[in-house]
Amino acid sequence: MQHFAIGLAGMGNVGAGVFKHLTQNRALLRERLGFELDVKKIALRDINKNRGVDFPTGIVTTRWQDILDDPEIRIVVELMGQKEESLRFMLGAIERGKTVVTGNKALLAEHGREIFDAATKHKVPVFFEAAVAGGIPIIKAIREAFIGNHIRSIHGIINGTSNYILTQMTEREISFTEALAEAQAQGYAEADPTLDVNGWDAAHKAVILASLAYGFWVPTDKIFVEGIDQITAGDIRFAKKLGYAIKLLGIIKADENGEIEVRVHPTLIPEKHVLASVNGVFNALAVHGDVVGETLFYGRGAGQDPTTSSVIADLAEAAAALQSPRSNYGFMPHGLYGTCKPIDQ
Ligand code: NDP
Ligand code: HSE
Repeated sequence: MQHFAIGLAGMGNVGAGVFKHLTQNRALLRERLGFELDVKKIALRDINKNRGVDFPTGIVTTRWQDILDDPEIRIVVELMGQKEESLRFMLGAIERGKTVVTGNKALLAEHGREIFDAATKHKVPVFFEAAVAGGIPIIKAIREAFIGNHIRSIHGIINGTSNYILTQMTEREISFTEALAEAQAQGYAEADPTLDVNGWDAAHKAVILASLAYGFWVPTDKIFVEGIDQITAGDIRFAKKLGYAIKLLGIIKADENGEIEVRVHPTLIPEKHVLASVNGVFNALAVHGDVVGETLFYGRGAGQDPTTSSVIADLAEAAAALQSPRSNYGFMPHGLYGTCKPIDQ
């Protein structure tokens, strides 16, 4: 049976989940895929940290460069959540012809063009299902299932931490700070949770979705972003009294002229609307295509297990692609800038 050696860069919330579930579901994956996925090296910073998962210490390194330098490793997983180092790691992997799997939405939103230009040049696929909406297979849906559609709009709840905070402030009437601390303890928040509460994590995801749907990398300075950090207990009470829930929405729309609008902001949602009942860490996305019509995706949008589920799916696809290369991994943004509405509209 064929074995694929994997290099796992990052052993935090998500990386530890990937190692744990690849190990626990090894037999299932072997049976379904007909090959083995072996983690050959793990890169992390602190070798003494307890990660709640058993792994052989002999495969650990504190230098992610060791993963790049190992010719047997043909698939790398980038889960370090860094900017500059993650970019160097990913570009280094691509240059060496290694397939990349990542959940780093901030990096894709800011450097997607550079990463995919390199991937195209070196003919290396890049998989990033975990980057948007945790366990919901929204990337696969837009990139593959809806390939025959003009996407009219995508909107929904795409940050689990903010939705968790708003839900706890509404249902248990706890403070913003307490709710954020709970989200961090559950492993939902980013290493820097400012990105969750100021709307930028949702904005990064919206950029990725818009770019996939419309075929060009939407510049981050062209989108309107407002987070939940100014929402008070009073705002939530008033909204509730008037029959609304406050939700942080990511909204992506194309008009008849092909102009794209991307926005992230708190929104009053009528209590009977389906999005009003999406609570806690759950995300939901409505995607409207000209052929398929309206579709709705719902599931856990953050946390170790749902995110791991997406990473493992990408790993399976990455290895299958090495066995039988495909000419096309679904539609990808081509890197040319299209038109984005100015942010004040
Ligand atoms: P964590 O902060 O929990 O984990 C980051 C890991 O990367 C840690 O193990 C850390 O090592 C390691 N690391 C960081 N820098 C380096 C470096 N220079 N060299 C080697 N190892 C390094 O993050 P998460 O697991 O939560 O998230 C990882 C990525 O996945 C991020 O891009 C995030 O945005 C994304 N993501 C996260 C989700 C979630 O629910 N948490 C959901 C979807 C995507 P050490 O532990 O030793 O410090
Ligand atoms: N911090 C992110 C969230 C993780 O809360 O949605 C999932 O991308």
